[in-house]
Amino acid sequence: MPNFILAIDTSCDDTSAAVTVGNTVLSNVVASQVELHKEFGGVFPTVAKQAHKERIAPVVQLALKRAGISPSELSAVAVTQGPGLAPALEVGVEFAKTYAADLKLPLIPVNHIEGHILSVLAKPRTSSSATRAVSKKTTTAVPEMSYPCLSLVISGGHTEFVVVHQPGHYERIGWTVDDAAGEAIDKFGRMVDLGYPAGPLVEQFAKLGNPRAFAFPLPMTTTDNFLMSFSGLKTSARRKIEELTAVQPLTKQQIIDLCASFQYAVFHAITYKLNKYLLKRYADPSQPPLFGVWLGGGVAANSTLRKMLRKTVQTYNLDLHVPYSKKLCSDNAAMIGVVGAVHLNENTDTSRSTIERKPNWEVGTL
Ligand code: KG4
Ligand code: ZN
Repeated sequence: MPNFILAIDTSCDDTSAAVTVGNTVLSNVVASQVELHKEFGGVFPTVAKQAHKERIAPVVQLALKRAGISPSELSAVAVTQGPGLAPALEVGVEFAKTYAADLKLPLIPVNHIEGHILSVLAKPRTSSSATRAVSKKTTTAVPEMSYPCLSLVISGGHTEFVVVHQPGHYERIGWTVDDAAGEAIDKFGRMVDLGYPAGPLVEQFAKLGNPRAFAFPLPMTTTDNFLMSFSGLKTSARRKIEELTAVQPLTKQQIIDLCASFQYAVFHAITYKLNKYLLKRYADPSQPPLFGVWLGGGVAANSTLRKMLRKTVQTYNLDLHVPYSKKLCSDNAAMIGVVGAVHLNENTDTSRSTIERKPNWEVGTL
């Protein structure tokens, strides 16, 4: 009997539920709250909490329906425990606790960043009738891959470099000391009135503009580590915009060129640190070679970022792996289900009634 997992993610402003089996995604429902938060220019926690409360039950029901699975066929419930917005996480965790207890199912607490990391392993169902025909191969919890790999999680809340020694065994080697890359792009977008979240629009505008039109600094070049910083870029953008608008309102071409230049600056800061890490690792004979570089998180949907990273990793004869669909880049529960399968057999306590949200949970720690 395949292990069907109901997965839930309410870490930020998306209410999501999915049904997965191994790393195969049978359904992945995401109810976005973007429209509710637009007027605030960012995610408003109490609004997010209320919307999650209203949507979680119908979203779960729809995920089961789309997967063609009844609750009695489930083997476990997996839920994002953290990191994320505390009031938002609470809704998913409390719902999952009750749901799992009612059905006497094990509850698997999942780290959201681990979800973004393993999102590259997710596979789509093979045909519309796949539910019953899921082959034995796709039900294995951990897909066959060679390790270690390096995972880059680039999202609105996180910018992390993590060595994946095996699924479930992580070493965090780099992160942002202030804003996340997506957060910096969103804040820049607000400065040029692109609304919230600005990432996808900045990408579209950037395609039409000149990335060298405005010079931005390359941060953290003097540090001998893989830490990143994006808040200085944001300040630099603010100053530039103030200088330009002191003369006249920004022209459309200036906005387009600012988008191209700012986006390039953020992505250059990431590829710079990636190159620095790979250079150091490959110069050290005691380090095993990597078997690939993985990319996850909302900003991973950006085709310019993918191109820049691909170019960097190809220098080291490595491939860049991305999720099979852009829907798996931004927050979603399918990636939580994939992680759930990895940890399914670690759970001996089937009630898990004591788990609580962990808003600041670092990946790779307990
Ligand atoms: O992973 P995600 O949905 O939520 C977090 O866990 O943070 O990421 C959302 C972030 C936002 O900052 C959004 O602007 C950004 O991902 N984003 C993009 C693109 N699509 C979404 N940034 C740049 N280019 C895109 N195409
Ligand atoms: Zn996320």
